[in-house]
Amino acid sequence: MLEVTNLAKSYPTPRGPLTILSNLTLSLRPGDAASIVGPSGSGKSTLLYVLGALEPPTAGTVTLDGVDPFALSSTELAVFRNRRVGFVFQDHLLLPQCTVLENVLIPTLVGEREPDAAERARELLDGVGLADRLDHRPGELSGGERQRVSLARALIRRPPLLLCDEPTGNLDRAAGDVVASMLFDLHERQKTVLLIVTHNIALAARCPIQFELVGDRLARVDEP
Ligand SMILES: Nc1ncnc2c1ncn2[C@@H]1O[C@H](COP(=O)(O)OP(=O)(O)OP(=O)(O)O)[C@@H](O)[C@H]1O
Ligand SMILES: [Mg+2]
Repeated sequence: MLEVTNLAKSYPTPRGPLTILSNLTLSLRPGDAASIVGPSGSGKSTLLYVLGALEPPTAGTVTLDGVDPFALSSTELAVFRNRRVGFVFQDHLLLPQCTVLENVLIPTLVGEREPDAAERARELLDGVGLADRLDHRPGELSGGERQRVSLARALIRRPPLLLCDEPTGNLDRAAGDVVASMLFDLHERQKTVLLIVTHNIALAARCPIQFELVGDRLARVDEP
């Protein structure tokens, strides 16, 4: 369960604090799938960074299954991010010197060994249609293929929270539909909390819970 209470986020700038999000409250249960749309620069990625414990909030609280990641020690926080959160970044952030298979395995290199990690990575890559690209480096992939590697990497630890920033942003419509279906399928099977940020209205509409970031507020738009 993801619970966000009165969250605010501002960045310091030379002209004073720049408020991006304020007084934001949100609650999502395992199995929930939610989308967030909103104009470029409205703070969607910023919100995901805070929810994924990559950026601290300026005010308010975030808890995942009762744990406030910002109250943890730095070591515990690293474990929390590694185990509890899968993140598909807007610009995928794959390691250029590692192969596709190695990139997917990176989250499993921290902490206790998972004997079946390589097999699971192959399964996930097979699932996203990249079984014959395991030894490619990110530079030898298309943008959409990199996005799919990023999706497999986010899922390798079976995290209870899956945050996706424009997961189909680099894809044509057919490939985007394939990735989206995969995402919803995995979400359905693993009962994660899924939160998707996107400019793609059709993708956003596939989520039962829909939000729009308007100004610095998050408004529910799927119910009257
Ligand atoms: N480190 C930072 N310092 C100051 N301002 C920042 C910082 N990071 C982001 N911003 C500002 O915060 C605002 C929100 O950025 P964010 O990346 O969250 O937008 P977004 O909704 O994801 O946009 P897009 O749809 O273009 O990806 C932007 O106006 C950006 O300039
Ligand atoms: Mg963004």
